[in-house]
Amino acid sequence: MIHYKTEEEIKLMKESCKLAAEVLLMIEPYVKPGVTTERLDQICHDYIISKGAVPSPLNYRGFPKSICSSVNEEICHGIPSDRKLRNGDIVNLDITTYLNGFHGDTSRTFFVGSPRKKAAKLVEVCREALQRGIEVVKPGAKLGDIGATIQNYAESHGYSIVREFCGHGIGANFHEEPQILHYGSFGEGLEIKKGMVFTIEPMVNLGKPDLRILSDKWTAVTQDGEISAQFEHTLCVTDNGVDVMTRLDGKTQF
Ligand code: MF3
Ligand code: CO
Ligand code: CO
Repeated sequence: MIHYKTEEEIKLMKESCKLAAEVLLMIEPYVKPGVTTERLDQICHDYIISKGAVPSPLNYRGFPKSICSSVNEEICHGIPSDRKLRNGDIVNLDITTYLNGFHGDTSRTFFVGSPRKKAAKLVEVCREALQRGIEVVKPGAKLGDIGATIQNYAESHGYSIVREFCGHGIGANFHEEPQILHYGSFGEGLEIKKGMVFTIEPMVNLGKPDLRILSDKWTAVTQDGEISAQFEHTLCVTDNGVDVMTRLDGKTQF
């Protein structure tokens, strides 16, 4: 069942989404060579709590930390640890906050120090793939239009799209219907309607799309060991388009 949100619910949810976006902005200066992902987790955790919110990942289906941190060949759901980030790494930080009874979910891939050219290109294509996916969202369009747009863009650069994880409806629950695939065909899938709130969060691999899960039961990594990037926004469908709820207007953000 899809939970269509009322104007009032969207207003409350926006505060949670803005907070998640602020966390990504707040943490950026700490993402430097030598920092551990555990330290980044701790800073985000404390910030979220200080705003009267709760980090949604903590204890979610047994997840042990407050954010996900996925480095280089890690695709998503990496667990913050004592691993030190190194110059040239890329790291996705995925922030989900629970505030006002609603979740807000956003992530971006950061460069640690100076990126290698192939990493910089991959990350930029992933960011642009999300942007292009967002731009097709409006009442009357189909969910397949989002997936097809993202897939075509990523594959036109020789990259691949991860199939095992997708975007999702979000609201009072972290993950709700519908599923938002990042691949597909134009004109297929459910019709997009006003009041739908969902994430788009493409994972784009430099090499092959295949993944495996590490023995920690969470971390998804590429089978071929090549790097992977991800960006995520939470958005709601309006009368004639889309509102990106995890975007902070007027501030430097992706
Ligand atoms: N934030 C992730 C998403 O975009 C979900 C993380 S689940 C966790 O859907 F348990 F790993 F935190
Ligand atoms: Co999500
Ligand atoms: Co997320």
